[in-house]
Amino acid sequence: MWQAVSLLLVVGIVNAKPGIFGEHFDASLFASAPVLPAPTFFKEPIFAPAPIVASAPIIKTIAPAPIIKAVAPLPIVKAVAPATSYATVTQFHVTHPVVKLYICLYMFYIDNTVKGVGNPLVIKNARIVCTSEECLRSAANLKLSMDFNADPCDDFYQYVCGNWKQEHINHGWYSRFSSFETINERIAVSTMDFLKSNSTKGEPLPVTQSRDLYKSCMDVGKSRNSSPLPRYTFSLIVLFTIVISFPLSPFTFKKYVDKKTTRRKRVKLELDEEELFESAYKRVVVTVMKAIISNVTKVPSEKVLVEASNIIWNITDDISELAGDDDDEFDEDFDDLDVRTIKASELQNLTDFLMKENNLKPKEVWKTYFNMLFQDIENVTLDLDGKDLIRYLPNDLDYINSIVVYLAKKRSIYLELYAWYHTVYSMIVSTTTEISEYIYKESAPFKKNSILRSRSMDCADLVIEFMGIAVSYGIADKSFLTVTKPKVDEMLINIKDAFVQRVKTLKWMDEKTKNATLEKSEEMVSFIGFPEWLLNKSALEYYYAGITIANDTFLENMLSIIEQYTPYRLANLREINPRTWRTDPTTVNAYNYFGDNSINVPMAILSFPIYHLGLEVLNYGAIGSVLGHELTHGFDNTGRKFDKYGNYIQWWSNDTIETFEKKTECFVAQYENFSLPNINATVNGKMTLGENLADNGGLHHAFLAYKNYQNLHGTEPQLPGFEKFNDEQIFFIAFGSIWCESRSDESLKSQLKHDEHCPNPIRVAGTLQNSDDFSKAFNCSMGSKMNPKKNKCRIW
Ligand SMILES: *[C@@H]1O[C@H](CO)[C@@H](O)[C@H](O)[C@H]1NC(C)=O
Ligand SMILES: *[C@@H]1O[C@H](CO)[C@@H](O)[C@H](O)[C@H]1NC(C)=O
Ligand SMILES: *[C@@H]1O[C@H](CO)[C@@H](O)[C@H](O)[C@H]1NC(C)=O
Ligand SMILES: *[C@@H]1O[C@H](CO)[C@@H](O)[C@H](O)[C@H]1NC(C)=O
Ligand SMILES: *[C@@H]1O[C@H](CO)[C@@H](O)[C@H](O)[C@H]1NC(C)=O
Ligand SMILES: *[C@@H]1O[C@H](CO)[C@@H](O)[C@H](O)[C@H]1NC(C)=O
Ligand SMILES: *[C@@H]1O[C@H](CO)[C@@H](O)[C@H](O)[C@H]1NC(C)=O
Ligand SMILES: *[C@@H]1O[C@H](CO)[C@@H](O)[C@H](O)[C@H]1NC(C)=O
Ligand SMILES: *[C@@H]1O[C@H](CO)[C@@H](O)[C@H](O)[C@H]1NC(C)=O
Ligand SMILES: *[C@@H]1O[C@H](CO)[C@@H](O)[C@H](O)[C@H]1NC(C)=O
Ligand SMILES: *[C@@H]1O[C@H](CO)[C@@H](O)[C@H](O)[C@H]1NC(C)=O
Ligand SMILES: *[C@@H]1O[C@H](CO)[C@@H](O)[C@H](O)[C@H]1NC(C)=O
Ligand SMILES: [Zn+2]
Repeated sequence: MWQAVSLLLVVGIVNAKPGIFGEHFDASLFASAPVLPAPTFFKEPIFAPAPIVASAPIIKTIAPAPIIKAVAPLPIVKAVAPATSYATVTQFHVTHPVVKLYICLYMFYIDNTVKGVGNPLVIKNARIVCTSEECLRSAANLKLSMDFNADPCDDFYQYVCGNWKQEHINHGWYSRFSSFETINERIAVSTMDFLKSNSTKGEPLPVTQSRDLYKSCMDVGKSRNSSPLPRYTFSLIVLFTIVISFPLSPFTFKKYVDKKTTRRKRVKLELDEEELFESAYKRVVVTVMKAIISNVTKVPSEKVLVEASNIIWNITDDISELAGDDDDEFDEDFDDLDVRTIKASELQNLTDFLMKENNLKPKEVWKTYFNMLFQDIENVTLDLDGKDLIRYLPNDLDYINSIVVYLAKKRSIYLELYAWYHTVYSMIVSTTTEISEYIYKESAPFKKNSILRSRSMDCADLVIEFMGIAVSYGIADKSFLTVTKPKVDEMLINIKDAFVQRVKTLKWMDEKTKNATLEKSEEMVSFIGFPEWLLNKSALEYYYAGITIANDTFLENMLSIIEQYTPYRLANLREINPRTWRTDPTTVNAYNYFGDNSINVPMAILSFPIYHLGLEVLNYGAIGSVLGHELTHGFDNTGRKFDKYGNYIQWWSNDTIETFEKKTECFVAQYENFSLPNINATVNGKMTLGENLADNGGLHHAFLAYKNYQNLHGTEPQLPGFEKFNDEQIFFIAFGSIWCESRSDESLKSQLKHDEHCPNPIRVAGTLQNSDDFSKAFNCSMGSKMNPKKNKCRIW
């Protein structure tokens, strides 16, 4: 995503002074304005101090851009666009816990009748049945989602998830809908309830502010309607984040951001669809420009506006092409860890060379740009001739090469128009309802499977995005730190112990590498739930100090947050990244940050149906396998390249690396064998390798950890309605159930191309095919689909 912003910035400094967008906020854009100085260009600067050369143990050298390993990808098509709609909040409550409980009790009643068991809670084999609310909820959820007609040894996903779709209605906001999205919705609903509630006396200021931010977002009345985009003078720094920070733009040209490479990808449209897209896009450009300009000056003629929309479209399209957006195959040679450094002067040399080659006059751009970016940042003085280096990937230079000449040859006035439009556009949807509804209407035909959500849901999401920590204060379970967190900590320790137990038995690793592996696992830290200071009023107020929020100035509110945040980020240039929280507590996901050697497990993922399942056997199968997954990432084909301090250096012996790589071939072949006949596609075994290793290792460690837990604590009560199942079977059912989902073929196709995660049914099948424990638990005969006649792949 940085790419898009960076490019705008380049154009922004054409005039080498901030405030350019304010000054040119008028019709001169379309008149024969003076030609501006030559343009510059830029892409993805990642600042890094020069590598620390030291003999003392290096705690941390330059860490590459944070590499995010996710359990599940975020929804690919984000349903956005604020507006009122027919999707009302009450629809959500179908999945509300209370309703679930009701269904559950009802089901019990039926079960009871059919079996003729007098008291459902007392079963003949005398093992106690768990009747807690959590157990009943889990039992009902599983019972209703499972397809007991399916053969678990043939298609375990179908067996566990066969009826899930019918029980979990996708309202149409997601192109894929799974347990993760059900949690997302629940969080949005409780956030909404919280944001609507009255302030309480003495609550932290940011909490009150988060309510006001919500109100301002919901305010579609007079204040918003009467003030289109105000005449802002943007500072460069604000610009730097504006485009990436505004989440409410439904008509994005780039429809998809590839998480692995951060290179943008555009979903391919059919040819005639492309034409429709182009004309819709241009209509939006004209409408947006009209709306904004009308508040500043006389609106130019329709002819001028149309001409401007052609220019904007052409440049946007060209740049997207130059950035390689259209090549959407997975590039196996692309190594996103191949981070290199270059001096600003060397980069300048390179660009000068290209300019001369094309008979263009070189111009000093890089130092100007970087110095300008930091000019107002306290306590940071750049040393571009000395220790400050610019980090880049080899691909970035290719991009610069191709765009240098393009930008130099384009008229500056066009480039400025382009930059101005994209900045303004990113905010326009946050202004009036008319314009956001118009944009939504135009963009809808190109967005498959996404329907307009209620404005209140969108506003709740927005507040979560902008003030996630304050919202978390509001919705966090106050007993989390004392009750839940210690339990999760303990589970993670048990899973780490299982990992250690496993590593000690490995034959393919030499002793030295083994020792280093154990040390890395020992050094790995975890961040569970939310930061403790979140519940501390003064700490929370300090965190948000300086932002101004009013209940009727939505756009200004968002700008205020961005304006606080960006200089703060830049001011930290020289700081060594602390090992700390890197995700909002409201994120329904978990991460391993290689550069920190840390695991982040936000409170959002620690909820039903992934946690709080009533029995530890269920919890180990569900969240336990997720924790194991994240732990294993630290040792997958990428994570193994980062040592215990997060340094990107080789810390395995050559022999062990060679054996490891050989062993990964088994997984690549196994997963490439999976095909999806419906959409005539297969899995890319190399692209998904890291996730598959994490899935496989994670399940093994969670299972072993559970067995250890069981040995220590004895057998747990049984799950009501599942008395026929033994604990091992329940464990695997819980594992499978977190991956239940429903999704469109479109999103499936897109996932196979771009996502490092296999489609969920394949994640379940691939992992369990390699598990002897699973085959034993379900007595799957050798040669059945879930227990194939081939060597089981196993590394961790
Ligand atoms: C919130 O405050 C308003 C006005 O002070 C009051 O009418 C309303 O009952 C309050 N709502 C709740 C849930 O306390
Ligand atoms: C233009 O915007 C300003 C606020 O920035 C507002 O006061 C003014 O009324 C607007 N003018 C028109 C014509 O909408
Ligand atoms: C936009 O591109 C098209 C096709 O490349 C070209 O015919 C047209 O003149 C361009 N328009 C402008 C305004 O640059
Ligand atoms: C830039 O290039 C020129 C000529 O190619 C060379 O003399 C100079 O040393 C180079 N400067 C840097 C910083 O690489
Ligand atoms: C800059 O440094 C001074 C002195 O070390 C310190 O008091 C101040 O808080 C710093 N400012 C920022 C923005 O970090
Ligand atoms: C690794 O080896 C060193 C030295 O042989 C030893 O002190 C250390 O305890 C070992 N670490 C682990 C985790 O086994
Ligand atoms: C709350 O945070 C402040 C600093 O932000 C700290 O001084 C204080 O000790 C904290 N209080 C508690 C109870 O942790
Ligand atoms: C917005 O804030 C103003 C002043 O702070 C207050 O008078 C007004 O009632 C608030 N409006 C809403 C909808 O809360
Ligand atoms: C390991 O392999 C790399 C190149 O693949 C080589 O440079 C290095 O010397 C090897 N190390 C040892 C200890 O053999
Ligand atoms: C791929 O599938 C075929 C047919 O089902 C099977 O014979 C073969 O062993 C599989 N190969 C791998 C590597 O799993
Ligand atoms: C399926 O894909 C293959 C290779 O991509 C192609 O050759 C074949 O024609 C496709 N089949 C159908 C029915 O689309
Ligand atoms: C497992 O399956 C085999 C045949 O596939 C059968 O003979 C055996 O009795 C089964 N064992 C159990 C415990 O169900
Ligand atoms: Zn993962």
